[in-house]
Amino acid sequence: MLKAIEISADVYWVGGVDWNERNFHGYTTERGTTYNAYLIVDEKIALIDTCKAPFAEDLIARIADIVDPASIDYLVSLHGEMDHSGSLPALLDVAPGATVVTGAPKGADILRAHYGDDLPVQAVKTGDVLDLGKRSLSFVQTPMVHWPDNMVAYDAFDRILFSNDAFGQHLATSKRFDDEVGLPEVLVQAQKYYANIVMPYGRQVAKALGALEGLDIALIAPAHGVIWRSHVAEILEAYRAWSSGDPEDRAVVVYDSMWHTTEAMAREVAEAFVECGVPVKLLDLKVNHISDIMSDVLPAKYVAVGSPTLNMTMMPTVAGFLCYLRGLAPKNRIGLAFGSYGWAPAGPNEVAEALEKSGFSLPLGALTRQWVEDDEGLSFVHDAVVGLVRGQGDEEPLA
Ligand code: FEO
Repeated sequence: MLKAIEISADVYWVGGVDWNERNFHGYTTERGTTYNAYLIVDEKIALIDTCKAPFAEDLIARIADIVDPASIDYLVSLHGEMDHSGSLPALLDVAPGATVVTGAPKGADILRAHYGDDLPVQAVKTGDVLDLGKRSLSFVQTPMVHWPDNMVAYDAFDRILFSNDAFGQHLATSKRFDDEVGLPEVLVQAQKYYANIVMPYGRQVAKALGALEGLDIALIAPAHGVIWRSHVAEILEAYRAWSSGDPEDRAVVVYDSMWHTTEAMAREVAEAFVECGVPVKLLDLKVNHISDIMSDVLPAKYVAVGSPTLNMTMMPTVAGFLCYLRGLAPKNRIGLAFGSYGWAPAGPNEVAEALEKSGFSLPLGALTRQWVEDDEGLSFVHDAVVGLVRGQGDEEPLA
């Protein structure tokens, strides 16, 4: 029998655990995920978010462990994406008197587009307060973190920030709190989540963090993964760093290779970073998923990408990575393009063009070598990278 889990007096986690989700629209979720919903029992009863549609029965069963679902007064939708709103129709079936509270105007638009114009919606804006009795929920809209409708709700009585996607992690576990899993493990998933979902919206994240400044927060209750209880300061600081647009002195070298020449160049690029004291990761696209690579791209100032020429273009694995990278739009980075070719350097040149189009500065252009790489060629690559990194050390920080 499914149970609700009390996270604070009269506040319950009633979500769903998706142990076997392995692909979240292209993002590999090797640890599964959760769809968190929270029940607040006061003079009025509120449910914050729902679950992905297949978890509606689990959600209703956990609610029924505490109250009759028909007694729910408010269904608060902080974000209309279907992993959080998919069970809304099922909830309205069992709680037909409930009012749906969502952001104005985008939350209301999105929910009506998905679930019909007759949805009983009360649209709220930043500064609006929903009175529940002893408690009230104060809303702060956080547009584009990561859809236009996102908002968070703060319960000052329990000092809980219900943050929806922000501060989430795709992490299925039988535990509900950060300290029960351990900070390093949770942070790995929080970083992957930020890199793959939130990274394009760093400016909006910084603005949202500013709006939350000064709140007394005991718990951050996100819509995915575990609840932040013992490490609230750490996750807030991590979001500040990730959204700052000020990457660390780190490098990732990403490549694919046909006959190991581009691979040899990749190794030489990595060795050059090591020689300069810059931590580096060397990632072959044949065996690393692009969504895992993005975790390493997130803090890295240098992103080096290598491809040989295949059929007068770059390799499809590299093209896919660069397409994904362009969408996630990391800011203030230095790109390096490299690769080998037989009779035309189209592959590495296309890598350079793609990085430039994505906003990377590319001081070295494309490092290309014909046919098999020899010691002289590798020295050329090595010296170019060392010169770049050492030169960077003398320059102003990236704007
Ligand atoms: Fe977890 Fe944007 O939905």
